[in-house]
Amino acid sequence: MSITLTPLHPTIGVEIGGCDLSQPLSDQAFQTLLDAYYRYSMVLIRGQQLTAEAQTALLRCFGTPKISQRREFHVPGVPEIGRVGNTKHPDGSPSAFLDRYGNLWHSDTASDNHLDGVTMLYCVKTPKVGGDTLFASSVNAYATLPDPLRRRIEGRQVTHSFNKHNDYLLAKNPGSAKPLSAEDRAKWPDRTHDLVQTHPATGRRLYFVSPTLMKNISGYSEGKSAELAAALVAHTTRPEFVLRHVWQVGDLVFWDNRASLHSASPADYAGGERLIHRGYAYVQPLAWPVDHELSAGGE
Ligand code: SIN
Repeated sequence: MSITLTPLHPTIGVEIGGCDLSQPLSDQAFQTLLDAYYRYSMVLIRGQQLTAEAQTALLRCFGTPKISQRREFHVPGVPEIGRVGNTKHPDGSPSAFLDRYGNLWHSDTASDNHLDGVTMLYCVKTPKVGGDTLFASSVNAYATLPDPLRRRIEGRQVTHSFNKHNDYLLAKNPGSAKPLSAEDRAKWPDRTHDLVQTHPATGRRLYFVSPTLMKNISGYSEGKSAELAAALVAHTTRPEFVLRHVWQVGDLVFWDNRASLHSASPADYAGGERLIHRGYAYVQPLAWPVDHELSAGGE
């Protein structure tokens, strides 16, 4: 069966067909996935039957899996994969994380020193209504940014804080997850990065800001930083730039967190259940052959 690629949107996303991920991938097939990951920033592969172990094996092809601190939501025996959604244990307590939480534009990598990370979601259950995930390209955003905004961000640095984000989420939805221990919080110091960056694998320019994690942008007060971040994200996520993914059971979606923002949509599933298996891995960006010609995303 040959592999096919069908772009999903003019600025982000591609669907790959002809791929059975339950079998070990050849080097050549993996190279196609990696190429698509960098070229389109978000990849969809439908109709998969993936155990959490097979998903972990695929994650490992990209890099080193990160173990979520939300141990209570790990797939039993597979700590590399966490459960996201609104499912419950028989006693009514949540068996999945992020219900309502992911409903804001962000990058999963903002609070790390290593900004190159792949998030990989596999759909186990999806409600008839709601539960879509939205994607937008930070490369397209920079390429189309109006000059006055561009001048305000060149040479600036941005500081992100995972603990700020976590506190915000727990304040919004108390009781839906356990607060982080002092020991876990200490693992997440603030991180400062260049706001405008060159993607180390593709050479494309982009700006990197994840508003709910952001503490400030250098040279601006906290208030002005928040205003500027809001303007940048509003531009990145203009309706015509957004790809909406409507889940089907068996979908595997993965994306380049340096080059994109994503958001869940409001968690009103009209009584339906949502369950996604989520993994994340640090990627070494030079794995991509940088001399590839780019055809999408605006260099
Ligand atoms: C995430 O933000 O990583 C999850 C997005 C989703 O649940 O749709």
